[in-house]
Amino acid sequence: MERICEPELMDEPLQAEAYAAADFSGGDQAVLERIEALPGLRGSGDGEGLSVVDLGCGPGNITFLVARRWPGARVLGIDGSAAMLAIAERRRLADPAAHRYVRFQRLVLPSPQLVGPCSAVVSNSLLHHLHDPGVFWGAVKQLAGPDTGLYVRDLRRPANAADLEALVARHTGAAPEVLRRDYAHSLRAAFTPAEVREQLDSAGLGGLQVREVDDRYLEIQGHGLPGRLAP
Ligand SMILES: C[S@@+](CC[C@H](N)C(=O)[O-])C[C@H]1O[C@@H](n2cnc3c(N)ncnc32)[C@H](O)[C@@H]1O
Repeated sequence: MERICEPELMDEPLQAEAYAAADFSGGDQAVLERIEALPGLRGSGDGEGLSVVDLGCGPGNITFLVARRWPGARVLGIDGSAAMLAIAERRRLADPAAHRYVRFQRLVLPSPQLVGPCSAVVSNSLLHHLHDPGVFWGAVKQLAGPDTGLYVRDLRRPANAADLEALVARHTGAAPEVLRRDYAHSLRAAFTPAEVREQLDSAGLGGLQVREVDDRYLEIQGHGLPGRLAP
């Protein structure tokens, strides 16, 4: 089915609160396990000396999981939505001792303010929001260096409207209407694995692996990315 973009930023306060209240814990835990397996993070103790950037962090679901797993690492969550970052900051301040190395920064991508290299770039469900996916891969390259690990998970676009409706019913059955609406729009805005492979080739990141995961996700991962200096 044809891609239809959705709004990039999730900056309606009700939308951000509904997203933050939803239980994504199962999927988020699976993301953390994949991040743990990245070379450079695997076996890194409490993470002292590591720096991790979470692109499109929203209310910080993955950011905080990473910070809890590596309490000595500097973890930076980036998002363009003030509403999302207000929630993330509220969560951070609820336990400032545990989150002493966690920071959030409001940046709308593309931004020249992203400067690497960092130890790992992670991102869950940002790619499909971007009208131009090259913006996402440009941000990854700004943060990358020869030792940087990357883990990205995102939705993949279903083949047709019937498959899309089945996914919405299966995964957001009892959710509030705003979440069901956003989920349908996100599936429609998502990319296919073949499109992502083309994006990676165009960005000079063809060495990264793209894989389909369960009924609705794709993941992209790799290590030792060709970086470039921020303009
Ligand atoms: C579906 S949420 C994912 C949140 C989070 N990564 C998680 O796992 O729960 C996507 C986030 O990307 C942010 N976003 C979308 N386009 C952006 C852009 N151009 N620059 C910065 N953030 C953006 C949205 O504001 C939203 O918070």
